[in-house]
Amino acid sequence: METIRIGLCGVGNVGGEVARRLLSHDSLLNSAAGTELKLVQIGARKGKGAISLDNVDIRTDLRDVVANPDIDVFVELIGGVDLAYELVTDALNNGKHVVTANKALISTHGNEIFKLAKEKNLQIGFEASVAGGTPVIKALREGLVANEVSWFAGILNGTSNYILSDMQMNGAQFSEALSKAQNLGLAESDPTLDINGTDAAQKASILASLAFGVPLDFSNVSFTGIDELELIDLNFATELGYTIKHIAYGEIENSEVTVSAHPTLVSNESILSQVGKEMNALEINCKGIGSTVYYGPGAGPSPTASAVLADLVDVSKGSLACPELNKESNVYSKEDKKVFARYFRLLVKDEPGVIAKISSLFAENNLSIEALIQHEDRNKSDDINKVPVVIVSGPVNDASADKISKSLIDLDEVDQHLKQYRIHSDKK
Ligand SMILES: NC(=O)c1ccc[n+]([C@@H]2O[C@H](COP(=O)([O-])OP(=O)(O)OC[C@H]3O[C@@H](n4cnc5c(N)ncnc54)[C@H](OP(=O)(O)O)[C@@H]3O)[C@@H](O)[C@H]2O)c1
Repeated sequence: METIRIGLCGVGNVGGEVARRLLSHDSLLNSAAGTELKLVQIGARKGKGAISLDNVDIRTDLRDVVANPDIDVFVELIGGVDLAYELVTDALNNGKHVVTANKALISTHGNEIFKLAKEKNLQIGFEASVAGGTPVIKALREGLVANEVSWFAGILNGTSNYILSDMQMNGAQFSEALSKAQNLGLAESDPTLDINGTDAAQKASILASLAFGVPLDFSNVSFTGIDELELIDLNFATELGYTIKHIAYGEIENSEVTVSAHPTLVSNESILSQVGKEMNALEINCKGIGSTVYYGPGAGPSPTASAVLADLVDVSKGSLACPELNKESNVYSKEDKKVFARYFRLLVKDEPGVIAKISSLFAENNLSIEALIQHEDRNKSDDINKVPVVIVSGPVNDASADKISKSLIDLDEVDQHLKQYRIHSDKK
C-alpha cells in the first residue's frame, strides 16, 4: 500500500485530535483513503510538552516541518494569519499539498494560496474552516457543482447560536448566556470574534467565493454581531412568530454578489429557526433544485478533526481540485441592495399622536407597516414615561432602513435607543 506522509503544525484542540486519530492507525481512514495516512512529523513550539505522543518526530521549529522533503501533505492547525500564511506558502513552494481549518487565513489570503496551489499543481483542503464537522464546503465544491447557487443562509457560529438559544429558551440575559457558554467550553475566554460577527463573516466570505465564483474579499462582507442584542427583542420576536438567529447570508442577483452576517429574525416555521444550542446549519438555494440544508456540529475537536481527516482522504485520492474563483461576469455589489422585511423596536414617549406620527414617517418613505405592537407594560422600559413599540415593515434594503431609523430617532417623541433587524424569508 502506498503511503501519504503527513506533517502537522499545531497540536491544540483540533491538531491534538487529528494527531491521535492518525497515530491510532485507523483502518476506517486508511481504507477510505486507499492508502496509509502516516503522520511523520509534528511542529509544536512546546516540543514534547505540547502533547504526549510516542513514535512521532516533534520539532519546536515549525519551519522544519514545511521544509521536510519526506512530507507530502502539510496540515496547518495553529490558527492566526501571519505565521500560518508563511508556513502554508512555504509548504506549497516546497511541493506539499495543504490542509487547514483556518477561516481567518483563507478569508484573508485564500486568493494567493489558491493561485499558488494551482501554479504548483497541488491540492488545498479547507473543509474544517466553515461549519466544522458539517461538510458544507464539499457540498459547494462537489455535490452542487452542476447548479447555479441563488443564495445561501447559514448559522455558522456555534457560540452565538448557543447564546441566542439560551436567551430564547431560558430567558437568560446576554451576559449570563455568554458566561454559561464559556463555562461549558463553548466560548473562548476572549469571545470577541464570535460575538461581534467576525467569525461568521469570515466563513460567509469563504462560502460566497465558492458559491458564486468570486475572489475572496472580506472587505465586501457587511456584518454585525449579537453583542448588542437584548432579551426584549427575542421576546418580541417570539410574540411575532419568529426567533432571532445570527444569519450569514450570500446572494447573487444580476451577477452582483452580496455577503453579510447579522442578527436576523427567522420564522418559527423555517428550518433555521430549529437549529438550537451550538449547532450549525446552512441552507443553499440553487436554481432548478431549490433548497438543500446541511446541519451538524460546527466546532469541537472531534467534528473539526473529522473534516481535516476527510480532506486528507481526498488529497490521497487526488480529488481536491483548486477552487476557481474567477467567474468574470460575477462581481461584488457596491451596496447591499437586497431587500428584507424589517423589525424595528423604538422607545417612544407615552403620549397621544405618537403612533400616527411614526406611521406617517413610514408612509412618506413608501414603506408599509405589516404589524405593530405597543404594550402598556411600562416595566419593559427603564424610563417610566417611555414605552417600547415594535414595527414589522415591508421589504426594504439596508441603506433605506438605516435612513428611516435615523429619521425616526430624529423625532422628538422617539428615543435614540432604536433596534432594527432583518427578517429572513426562505421563500425567495
Ligand atoms: N476548536 C474548534 O472547534 C475549531 C473549529 C473549526 C476550526 N478551527 C480552527 O482550527 C485551528 C486550530 O484551532 P484550535 O482550537 O485547535 O486552537 P488551539 O487549541 O489554540 O491550538 C492551536 C495550536 O497551535 C499552536 N500555536 C498557535 N500559535 C502558534 C505560533 N505562533 N507558533 C507555534 N505554535 C503556535 C498552539 O501552541 P501553544 O500550545 O504553544 O500555544 C496550539 O498547539 C484554528 O485555525 C481554528 O480557527 C477550530
